[in-house]
Amino acid sequence: MMPESKLTMITDDLQRSLVFDEGQTVLEVLQQAGIAITATCGGRGTCGKCRVLVDDEQGLEYRLACTTVASDGMQVFTRDPAEMVIQDLGQPALLQADADVNGYGVAIDVGTTTVVCRLYDLNSGASLATASRVNPQVVYGADVMSRIDASISGKLGDMQGLLLSTLRELIASLCKTAAISCDGITRIALAANTVMEHIAAGLPPDSIGVAPFTPLSLFGDDHSFADFPAPLWFAPAIYGYVGGDISAGLLAVGMDRSPHLQLLVDLGTNGEIALGDSSGILCAATAAGPVFEGAGIHFGMPALPGAIASVRAKEDGLGESGGLQLGTIADAKPIGICGSGLIDVAALLLQEGIIDQGGRMLDISELPPHLRRFCGVENEIKVFYLTEDRSLYVTQKDLRNLQLAKGAICAGIETLMQKGGLKPSDIHSLHIAGGFGKALDLDNAAIIGLFPIELRDRAASAGNTAIEGISAAVVSAAARVRLRQLAESCSYVELSADVLFNELFIDALGFKSIATTEDTDV
Ligand code: FES
Repeated sequence: MMPESKLTMITDDLQRSLVFDEGQTVLEVLQQAGIAITATCGGRGTCGKCRVLVDDEQGLEYRLACTTVASDGMQVFTRDPAEMVIQDLGQPALLQADADVNGYGVAIDVGTTTVVCRLYDLNSGASLATASRVNPQVVYGADVMSRIDASISGKLGDMQGLLLSTLRELIASLCKTAAISCDGITRIALAANTVMEHIAAGLPPDSIGVAPFTPLSLFGDDHSFADFPAPLWFAPAIYGYVGGDISAGLLAVGMDRSPHLQLLVDLGTNGEIALGDSSGILCAATAAGPVFEGAGIHFGMPALPGAIASVRAKEDGLGESGGLQLGTIADAKPIGICGSGLIDVAALLLQEGIIDQGGRMLDISELPPHLRRFCGVENEIKVFYLTEDRSLYVTQKDLRNLQLAKGAICAGIETLMQKGGLKPSDIHSLHIAGGFGKALDLDNAAIIGLFPIELRDRAASAGNTAIEGISAAVVSAAARVRLRQLAESCSYVELSADVLFNELFIDALGFKSIATTEDTDV
């Protein structure tokens, strides 16, 4: 019998021996072992996100896990996936609980990139513990389309299995933290986008990938799985690309009961938008892509430890004695940049005149001398350096991808407003939800034109509204009924073929807001 081939996976404090078959790539070996390394392009070798440090006969070097064939004795150095937890989850509020109900409940938000779980005392409505993890399905790609592709190629069962085992582990960890028995959990509720809810339920999401994007289910019902202490109630979705995470978010901001018009923008994977009040809600998804979670950005990453989440010029500006001041998630050493950091960079470049209103980075010869040390060319693409050692930078292509995403969001907002016969002055509040938490600088978001600049004074970061809404649904039966009614009453606007949206999108690609401000100043 042939001896088994093995490689060794090494993290900061863990070493694992992994058996593999001849011809398997390093990504496939890690994937098979349930190790969540990011593979934004789903292993096509195009995104560069699966980079790992490899030590083998060819020496020690960085390579793409998806294009490197595993060899016996190879050592692969990766980050410890357990360390990749979401830091900025906010402080859970005390919720209105049902009368005479005892036991515990778990609220779950399954994002395309991250999973968050909260444990509640059903009697008091108090949150007892929170736990989070990278969604292990990231090995199949960063966006919902990659997960649909993976389902079509027979990976649905694998993706469901990975997610359910992560949820079981997170629930066990919540119970351990709160020192309770998992048997005491009597309610579990889950909110996610429609594709994630399909995968969690074991239903193929394939039909959501093609027009007319019709899902097999809109949920709002219980699903039972082995080794969970209670059935999982799935939040009702509104449409194929406006899921239970958005209906939960609408419940959290109270749009269905609001006497004033509200706007909710969720900067997750699809850039969903909802506009309405107690008389009705219009929603849409913009297909902005997961740029705000780091996909399509050279050094992009989700808002996880080490992500640059804020970028400012130092007090002395960018001159000789000044420079850049970077803020990272968990104050860790910078290893990439997340959505809020990218928005800051674009606003800074615009204000400093390093990019023009069309988003073009100026040539070094066109820049004033004091700005030249921040700019350069890497692999024939113009870049802006973030770190003094020049190891991290933002490229011209990153800025183009940001323009497409922010243009889609802003045009989506304008489209819904125009379809409702509304002006920015009619909107009472704008909630910006997403994984950024408090890191998002709303002034900079307005400067780059993520939303109409007239809404700046009514805009606020709402954090993770999906976990807030689904938490209310765990502790209150009335909130679950309200969530179902809310989802049924929303009207969906399909933007992909909408002439008005497409016209507004072209208009929204540039950086007009800063020009408006400057023009006003002159
Ligand atoms: Fe390897 Fe994208 S380059 S997963």
